Amino acid sequence: MSEVFDTTASKSEVYYPSQEVVDNIAHPDYMELRENARRRPLDFWEEQARKLVDWYEPFTQVLDDGNRPFFKWYTGGKINIVHNALDRHIKSWRKNKLALIWEAEDGEQRTYSYFKLWREVNRFANILKSMGVKRGDTVTIYMGRVPELPIAMMATAKIGAIHSVVYGGFSEQALADRIEDAQSKVVVTCDGAWLRGKTVNLKDIVDEAIHRSPVVQRVIVLKRTGQDINMVADRDFWWHELAALPIAGPYCDTEPMDAEDPLFILYTSGTTGKPKGLIHTVGGYQVFIAATLQYAFDIKEEDRYWCAADPGWITGHSYIVYAPLILGMTSFMYEGAPGYPYPDRWWSLAEKYSINILYTAPTAIRGLMRFGDAWPSRHDLSSLRILGTVGEPINPEAWRWYYTVIGKERCPIIDTWWQTETGGFMITPTPLIPLKPGSATLPFPGIDADVVREDGSSCESNEDGYLVIKQPWPGMARTIWGDPHRYVQTYWSDFEKQGWYFSGDSARKDEDGYFWVIGRMDDVIKVSGYRLGTAEVESALVSHRTVAEAACIGVPDELRGHVIHAFCILTAGVNGDAALVDELKNHVRHEVGPIAVPAAIEFVDSLPKTRSGKIMRRLLKAKVMGQPVGDTSTLEG
Ligand code: PRX
Repeated sequence: MSEVFDTTASKSEVYYPSQEVVDNIAHPDYMELRENARRRPLDFWEEQARKLVDWYEPFTQVLDDGNRPFFKWYTGGKINIVHNALDRHIKSWRKNKLALIWEAEDGEQRTYSYFKLWREVNRFANILKSMGVKRGDTVTIYMGRVPELPIAMMATAKIGAIHSVVYGGFSEQALADRIEDAQSKVVVTCDGAWLRGKTVNLKDIVDEAIHRSPVVQRVIVLKRTGQDINMVADRDFWWHELAALPIAGPYCDTEPMDAEDPLFILYTSGTTGKPKGLIHTVGGYQVFIAATLQYAFDIKEEDRYWCAADPGWITGHSYIVYAPLILGMTSFMYEGAPGYPYPDRWWSLAEKYSINILYTAPTAIRGLMRFGDAWPSRHDLSSLRILGTVGEPINPEAWRWYYTVIGKERCPIIDTWWQTETGGFMITPTPLIPLKPGSATLPFPGIDADVVREDGSSCESNEDGYLVIKQPWPGMARTIWGDPHRYVQTYWSDFEKQGWYFSGDSARKDEDGYFWVIGRMDDVIKVSGYRLGTAEVESALVSHRTVAEAACIGVPDELRGHVIHAFCILTAGVNGDAALVDELKNHVRHEVGPIAVPAAIEFVDSLPKTRSGKIMRRLLKAKVMGQPVGDTSTLEG
């Protein structure tokens, strides 16, 4: 560790691993790996690919960089992620090990052994086949947080089709756009989802989305809430009715895929209104997520692991569904929201299921912290060994609370910086790395991250700059679905000459080489850790008859990290009153989803624009925050 910690002069707060952590570490070779990976990254990625996953046919080349930035990993290899996540465990002693424990909001509990999960996946894979889904087709999945969501994902992957999971918190237009872009003929959904004791009418939203995007031919509906829904004859089918038919047999062959075949599309927000469908491929992705989870969370066979994200986001894809199963772990999944129906629901679950590793987001930590220490203190949380965080910078106050009150100063906080685009952790400590609250610490082995200036030169210590990745890695998104040009433009054009990936984040490195991520440099806002493009919210606002023009900015918020503040120019003659504010909020909730609803809507007569017509959000932000406006020389007349 001396390479990192020679600077004893560092004034920042440092937390060294406890003796308990050092004595119980499962992967003590991490620092050696880091060093080896630094010298020979491709050897490191080759070794991980051989060690962590099985191949039907071995790869012939680790990295093909002949067509930059369209890198290919493990070319020539044949593999399927479901073979590694499920099939191979069925042939081992893990067959009867618990793969998944699930608890519903109302306390109902379900468990899945590896065998049971495998069989359910096979059945659903056969159902998908009977619906005409073939290798290379896309299937859109829009569900609540139920075990059938990972089952549907893996069934899709098993037969070589491509899943596109749309987070259940998105509404009509967002879902319609994603269905349309992916051209999914089949949608898998639920009648409804439970959220804080109420039901969300998912099927109604699907019906409306199909109305807007008529490409869909078949809808498979899981009965979850039992509410009344509309079923369209010959288009909509109940999951349980299909599962009772002979077509849903318990065996289904797994399709051997090329390492570079697409595994899934996951939409994420960017600078324009149109969401980007990022493509992750079968081979490199699974190697990367398994390696990162194994080392960063120091995984042990007996662990009970709880990633509290939603499977509909990348965190869920990588670290609820695929990586834990590849590593043969036992995961816990909870249907509901933190703090519902009572403030210590999470802590009672951690105690009840004897959770060893908890992985969540700063916004959840801050929310639970607000209830006070008495709630977690009622519970025996001594099973916890590792605590993780992701999604946005964690403020030191929340970090310290998580470390002290939840982890009792025994559990390292693994602050993982990564993105939908990166597939898995990029900058993260492991339990042996000394920690500083608010820093994601150091790049994972084999990851060449840096903070640079606009001209590409490396920043000095503590100088803010662009967070870039200088070498490719196996888990990187390969392209944007149907729009390779946008992929190059978005991620590879800022440092085109150097051939580096630009994350869109600003960061600084301190004198110990630790990374401190500051936040987004583009028009992306992180609200409660959810990623939203200002343009998505703006286009929802202008789709309302009263709004002529709109601009949104992110304003810091103690609980949610950032909230959205919207400025609207109304069409002539419309009165901007409180009732209209409510109506517009409702409209955004309807079009995009509850996470996109602005905290404030302000009616204005004009918006500051550059001479080329670009809205200067920087000025709007300065105004809201009462800061100096800075350089306005490009401002319109
Ligand atoms: O700004 C960074 C922030 O979240 C962005 C990526 O968002 P998304 O694609 O939704 O993925 C979230 C889950 C991986 C990043 O560009 N971010 C994510 N993790 C951290 C973070 N910012 C600071 N610290 C983190 N640990």
